[in-house]
Amino acid sequence: MSDSIINSAIAYVEKTFYNNADGHDTGHAMRVYANAVKLAGYYPDCDAEIVALSALLHDVDDHKLFKTENNANARSFLEGQNISAAKIEQICSIINEVSFSKNRGRRPESIEGKIVQDADRLDAIGAVGIARTFAYGGKNGRSLEDSLQHFYDKLLLLKDEMNTEEARRLAIVRHEYIEGFVEEYKAETDLS
Ligand code: NI
Repeated sequence: MSDSIINSAIAYVEKTFYNNADGHDTGHAMRVYANAVKLAGYYPDCDAEIVALSALLHDVDDHKLFKTENNANARSFLEGQNISAAKIEQICSIINEVSFSKNRGRRPESIEGKIVQDADRLDAIGAVGIARTFAYGGKNGRSLEDSLQHFYDKLLLLKDEMNTEEARRLAIVRHEYIEGFVEEYKAETDLS
């Protein structure tokens, strides 16, 4: 795997998410990348470059933030790199498989896709998941209660939707943390 492609991807992500404060930002991309690299360590046969680039670029065409079609941002970055057309297609199809809303209940077919999806979902739970939920809710005018509802609609379901054994293990810890948070929140806001 070429370090220079990875460094260019990091620079591209920093530029793309500059000033974004809703939890889809460079920090998120870097954590998903770090999670994905860790998970990939358990699967020596997977393509580490595809995992790394898909993780870093997985939100650069997110429809919540960008009005691009057909992964235009990811493609424009990748086409400027020394990387085959076949690999670009693989990366774009993994990015499309990772999205929660588009793929409810469907699992990516490739191990690389499974890893990146797990890495993204791990960053949606635990302490960082709580912080990101309220940051996103605030930016989109949601009340605290509406953001809390998102825990039931999405976050508390993720533990059972992990693809890999190691992600499942990590998810249990983060899941218990958010369960405790929700309980405490309910107790503190119960005015009866
Ligand atoms: Ni993401």
